[in-house]
Amino acid sequence: MNTALTLAALTAALGAASPAPAAANDGIYSETWRPQFHFTAKKNWLNDPNGLVFYNGLYHLFFQHNPFGTEWGNMHWGHAVSPDLVHWAERPIALAPDGHGTCFSGSAVVDWNNTAGFAAPDAPHPPLVAFYTGAPVPQVEGGPKFTQCLAYSLDGGLTWEKYAGNPVMENIIGDNRDPKVIWHAPASKWIMALYLDKSDYALFGSADLKSWERLCDVEVPGRGECPDFFELPVDGDPADTRWVFVGGNGDYLVGRFDGVAFTAVSPVVRFDYGDHFYAPQSWSDIPAADGRRIQIGWMRGGAYPGMPFNQQMAFPNELTLRATPDGPRLFRQPVREIAGIRENTVTLSGVDLRGTITLDELSGELCDLRVVVAPDGAESFTLMARGEPVTWTAATGTLTALGREMPAALENGRVEIRLLADRASFEIFVQNGRAAMSQCFLPKPENRDWALTVPEGQSARLVALEGHRLRSAWR
Ligand code: FRU
Repeated sequence: MNTALTLAALTAALGAASPAPAAANDGIYSETWRPQFHFTAKKNWLNDPNGLVFYNGLYHLFFQHNPFGTEWGNMHWGHAVSPDLVHWAERPIALAPDGHGTCFSGSAVVDWNNTAGFAAPDAPHPPLVAFYTGAPVPQVEGGPKFTQCLAYSLDGGLTWEKYAGNPVMENIIGDNRDPKVIWHAPASKWIMALYLDKSDYALFGSADLKSWERLCDVEVPGRGECPDFFELPVDGDPADTRWVFVGGNGDYLVGRFDGVAFTAVSPVVRFDYGDHFYAPQSWSDIPAADGRRIQIGWMRGGAYPGMPFNQQMAFPNELTLRATPDGPRLFRQPVREIAGIRENTVTLSGVDLRGTITLDELSGELCDLRVVVAPDGAESFTLMARGEPVTWTAATGTLTALGREMPAALENGRVEIRLLADRASFEIFVQNGRAAMSQCFLPKPENRDWALTVPEGQSARLVALEGHRLRSAWR
């Protein structure tokens, strides 16, 4: 992967439809509330991430998109590509509504062995195959129902053709939707996780991506829509793996999967404690040499007054499964590629915290900050982030920010906090990503202050601090 590729070079290489490196001439990408390192559609509405697949050095990000307005509707698949998960170039729309309906959420894979037979024998690229829901909206009595369809690309993901034999799966129940397809090597077959109805999902198997048989049913109590399904090693041990079944709001089950049946070994685990995280999906076909499970969610429900776009993606996370006293649990951290937009660095360690320490070096809009504090008996401490208090409280073992609260029990007498600040959001991770909170909000434009505070008369120890101002990914 060539991470040195600039957005301009990328754009030129792809012949993309002018994804405007920088705030170019038209002011696009530099507007007041335009996130600077979170993906947004150049214009108009965006929701769920779709079709996440890595191929030939590029991460493909498709997204639910209304090309005609800033509210939900007319679902198309928008498309963007990135060499590094930070700099994105928007491409022409990949999928548009047809007789099967609008194009709801789904996934994509590289069909390396041409199992579906879409590629000629001497084709330069393996086919990329995308699955989406054909969603007739509005639905009419007796009219077509939600079905599962596919489309393929023979040029490495740049242009897409719908399969003439659509749908590949007829309606099963209600508004069944959001197919997530993965390759299961041990059983040598494709697996599809599909949302059915209420909190019911099912897994299907296929040899050729076109005909599917139902394998088992999965319930994620209280959750619906947009499944994701993947295997991860526990604490990095390839001999000790679990499967994770993720529901629409990111909450998940840990379990075992034998190629036919998924058996949960955990209750439903909460994934995000904020108001603005939904429909996360993970990338398919990350090369084995990289080996990461990389997830991106939609920061559902942010407000962007007066902007030509609406809604933003979360920043991509790396997921790991780690042993905890409760059993294996997901941990998440922003992908390391964020280092590519770090502008300046401040580090501190072994500092006595009394009163307030201001972090003037971080003063600005965009920031990536990690602090480790040993409260040493202090009742609380507060990180002021752009003037917003992010407070850890000893009595409850929680972290509160922007009106929300998440668990943050001390570990070895310490609490670790990572915070990403963009123009319209915070993402906060505690204890190495054991818990996280995604919040959209509109910071006071004039308040760019960063500081750490302990209550009057108390003291704590700042074990470590590493902070970086970030530069815009659009520049
Ligand atoms: C989740 C969702 C999906 C659906 C899509 C439509 O946000 O409702 O279930 O496919 O959005 O845009």
